[in-house]
Amino acid sequence: LSSEPDKPAGVATDLKTVSWAGDALTGVVRLIDQTKLPGELSYLDCRDVAALFEAIRSLRVRGAPAIGIAAAYGVVLGARSAGWSDARAVRLAAVEASQYLRTSRPTAVNLFWALDRMERVVERAGELNGRELLAALWVEAGSILEEDRRICRAMGQHGKGLVPAGGGVLTHCNAGGLATADYGTALGVLFAAAADGVEFEVYADETRPLLQGARLTAWELQQRGIPVTLICDNMAGWMMKRGKIQMVIVGADRIAANGDTANKIGTYGVAVLARAHGIPFYVAAPASTFDLAIPDGSHIPIEERHAHEVTHPQGRAAAPEGIRVANPAFDVTPAELITGIVTEHGMIAPVNPARVSAVLARP
Ligand code: MRU
Repeated sequence: LSSEPDKPAGVATDLKTVSWAGDALTGVVRLIDQTKLPGELSYLDCRDVAALFEAIRSLRVRGAPAIGIAAAYGVVLGARSAGWSDARAVRLAAVEASQYLRTSRPTAVNLFWALDRMERVVERAGELNGRELLAALWVEAGSILEEDRRICRAMGQHGKGLVPAGGGVLTHCNAGGLATADYGTALGVLFAAAADGVEFEVYADETRPLLQGARLTAWELQQRGIPVTLICDNMAGWMMKRGKIQMVIVGADRIAANGDTANKIGTYGVAVLARAHGIPFYVAAPASTFDLAIPDGSHIPIEERHAHEVTHPQGRAAAPEGIRVANPAFDVTPAELITGIVTEHGMIAPVNPARVSAVLARP
């Protein structure tokens, strides 16, 4: 029941976005506080479910796979709050924590996928005593984290051949190490290409209103020495028109059975622009981001966030008081605008229900 305490990482090539520090009985969930980047690489230790819930809701930890890993460890924190002598109390506390964490954010299905896995451990607990159940939950959360590390690297290998040598690649939001355990989905594909010596330039959309592109993607790429140019969201079309972009690649928060893909607000617009300019548009996402229970994107719940994020960028008023605001955090790109989806099982192309189920069924 113990793991090596984590050393805070010095550079972004050695990110530990979410980790567990200490043993199962006394340890903490250690997160990079992403609201502090790029100015400060600092860590937040969550000791209870309430702290972890707050970290997810306020985007201290964000990105679909990272939220799932954090929530899984959150169930361990919750289970532990019941002590570890009474197995029934540990079971109830674990399920209660899981149910609570399900209400933190609605769109990224990885959250629900990870919590389902944790609840299955509770269901299978059988004759385990409280301490053994706690250990089983901790091991499962650790497996979710380790699988993510392996899966992201597999996606990198499957997708790296798409990256155009000498070309420009546009990305939106942050689908890098900060959105996963440590490596990334869409950015993982770029890291794998760069590791092979492919030279290219990344154009990072700033990604209003919360600037994940400017604060996180630009920072990660800079740390890794990959050439990156930051642009405002409204510049993407013009960059394409001027021949600067040969490929678009983004991550995903939930993908329906037909391939319709929810990702950060603005992704749909980028996909429309890519189609208008004849530029391939790729998504990179693990199988855990697919929600095969829904036939298409119209069933994806879209998180609506506080108006303040739009009216007060960086905390300063930038709009008249009392103005009506819309702030959907995600949009849905229809499958027909997606050239291919890179998964750990290989590439889904063309994107249609048959290809989605065939590729995901591969070992
Ligand atoms: O609101 P966020 O920052 O959690 O949104 C994140 C995204 O939209 C990412 O592109 C997505 O989760 C893919 S991360 C590998």
